[in-house]
Amino acid sequence: MKQIVAILCAAFLISGSIKAAEGMWIPILLQKYNIEEMQELGFKLTAEDIYSVNQASMKDAVVIFGGGCTGELISNEGLLITNHHCGYGAIQSHSSLENDYLTNGFWAMNRDEELTNPGLKATFLRSMKDVTEEVLEGVTEEMTEKERNSVISKNSKAIKDEAIKDTHFTAVLKPFFHGNQYFLFVNEVFTDVRLVGAPPSAIGKFGGDTDNWMWPRHTGDFSLFRIYANADNEPAEYAEENKPYTPKHHFPISMKGVSEGDFTMVFGYPGSTYEYVPSYHIKMITEEVNPTLIDVRTKKLEIMNRYQGADPAVRIKYAAKNASTSNSWKRWIGEIKGLDKLNAIEKKEEQEVAFQKWADASDNDKYKTVLTEYKGIYEEYSKYYITYSYISEMIRRNGMEGVGLSGYFDGLISEIEKDTVDNEVVLSKKEGIVARYQKFFKDYYMPLDKEETAMLLQMYQENIDAKFLPDVYMLINGKYKGDISKYVDMVFEKSIFMNQNTAEAFVNNFSKKSIKKLHKDPAYILLDSFVELAKSDVVDQYKELRSKIMLLDRTYMAGLMEFENDKVFYPDANFTLRVSYGQVSAYEPKDAVQFKHYTTLEGIIEKDNPDIYDYRVPAKLKELHTTKDFGKYEVNGTVPVCFVATNHTTGGNSGSPVVNANGELIGINFDRAWEGVMSDLMYNPEQCRNISLDVRYVLFLIDKFAGASYLLNEMTIIE
Ligand code: ARG
Ligand code: GLU
Repeated sequence: MKQIVAILCAAFLISGSIKAAEGMWIPILLQKYNIEEMQELGFKLTAEDIYSVNQASMKDAVVIFGGGCTGELISNEGLLITNHHCGYGAIQSHSSLENDYLTNGFWAMNRDEELTNPGLKATFLRSMKDVTEEVLEGVTEEMTEKERNSVISKNSKAIKDEAIKDTHFTAVLKPFFHGNQYFLFVNEVFTDVRLVGAPPSAIGKFGGDTDNWMWPRHTGDFSLFRIYANADNEPAEYAEENKPYTPKHHFPISMKGVSEGDFTMVFGYPGSTYEYVPSYHIKMITEEVNPTLIDVRTKKLEIMNRYQGADPAVRIKYAAKNASTSNSWKRWIGEIKGLDKLNAIEKKEEQEVAFQKWADASDNDKYKTVLTEYKGIYEEYSKYYITYSYISEMIRRNGMEGVGLSGYFDGLISEIEKDTVDNEVVLSKKEGIVARYQKFFKDYYMPLDKEETAMLLQMYQENIDAKFLPDVYMLINGKYKGDISKYVDMVFEKSIFMNQNTAEAFVNNFSKKSIKKLHKDPAYILLDSFVELAKSDVVDQYKELRSKIMLLDRTYMAGLMEFENDKVFYPDANFTLRVSYGQVSAYEPKDAVQFKHYTTLEGIIEKDNPDIYDYRVPAKLKELHTTKDFGKYEVNGTVPVCFVATNHTTGGNSGSPVVNANGELIGINFDRAWEGVMSDLMYNPEQCRNISLDVRYVLFLIDKFAGASYLLNEMTIIE
């Protein structure tokens, strides 16, 4: 017995060193680079089963959900699962105090009750291919970056046009390995995507921002949608007579669950990673950028939390804004810790010393100066990077919200100023702005925004180099003697944009004469001074430095690939479909602490606390627990909830299918563990874990909690 355990442990340690886990791999290159290793780890299918243009394959069941998430098909009738936090915008848009689906959940009990979501898209990849040669045709070593880019963009356009000629498909062409390689993606975009079900936030967002990015986790982070198509099973705008879409493939769902060491694969759309940056970049992020941005967001969150805590209506209005503000804020904090713990800067420096030695000894001059050039540029670049990011925090990213309403007029004005004015176009532009205002005011609370505007103006002045102060501070520090709150009082009192009626009337009556009035509005003056600043020095300089860095990135990347020419590199994430494979695996977050690889319903009951908003367990769920009404979802007297594995994932992978060795769905990816969020810059198999929702908890909730078991009938469930 002892011996068997020892052998098992040794076997696990070997696979437990998990060299395979790092990487986000290109689906059409699996056969060449990965499939053997995947099969060694337990995968039982072939590369063709994952991606094929000749037969139905897993890729036909994976979509880009909306603009930044992944989703997957789980029935032959267009049923799609993604995260609750990915469906959040849609769920919130149907919610009000009277019909509060965020709080109570929503379940269509038949197809007629499904809710439409204008603007929501589901995008399938139909094919991809390497087009590097075609894209770089006519590019020479002697060209400037500008010349190079113009040849590339001309070639790219021709390649895309050709690829989708006479079809209803769309095409996307993206650089890989920082412009050393290019791939073309042909997509099919569906635009009738209806909401089918979502658990209450007390389940779908259980643990809220307290537990976000953390393990052990108990969030039931899923929502269900359905894709509709026209009579030919092709994309169509919403129409009542549209039919549920029949996908080429949907994921069977496994009830078998996961054990330590099991093979797992995540198939989705990771957004961005920075694995090949030099040490200077890591220094900039950990010492300057993250700390500065963490500071602004800490203040934003303090204000939002205070108003939301005091008024349930404000809590709903600012739910999504708060979640997105908090999300990156917390990740940035974890990222600094993780990079410090890994000694990421020293590691990069060691690699750079070795690289420099190799480059110096090489006959090729191309790589000799890359690192010194990086060093010079990063010193300048970080100042601009911070200012640029700070301006985004001011005028986008839930910054000065009301003030931002004065910034919607460029399109309308250029239409009105044309020699021959097309009244219909003008009208539709006006309607467009009014529609945006209506959406805006539904989720707006002025006292909160006013306090935040004053806070942001104060912090900008204190934290950003005086040479980047926009003109409006002359007014603030002159006429208002530096009294920011007095100035902000004036803006909110005098601006026509702080009131929905006056704002809409202004748009509806907009004519040439209104331009003057717009330019005199204090909200416009404030916004415009930041926009002008951003346009002038900051952005120009930022862009110039950025483009120098991009050239260095391309060179350094090529150099690294030559330097370590026996290693298989994976490209940084760029929101294209990727495969990450790894294993279910427990981990040690810190000294003397050991985390299991899964959580259960018991943990939800343990966390239950009516005094803490994030930990209020719905009565119905407590009842199911007390009466042990677990049905066939019971495992060892409880229900499994989440599990962790070593798959290398990032933002965008939310909602991605997590599949087992047989290609069956075992989980839905939704997060990473706090100790490992530095994996966007440096992955470490000991500390990096993706967090998935156990699909058995999903089925349990649909069946036992929601009483929507009719949905299970259309799924392919493997018991
Ligand atoms: N951290 C996850 C991701 O990056 C979940 C975010 C949504 N949840 C939240 N509590 N803010 O998207
Ligand atoms: N929650 C993230 C998303 O929305 C996934 C977590 C991560 O960054 O890995 O994509």
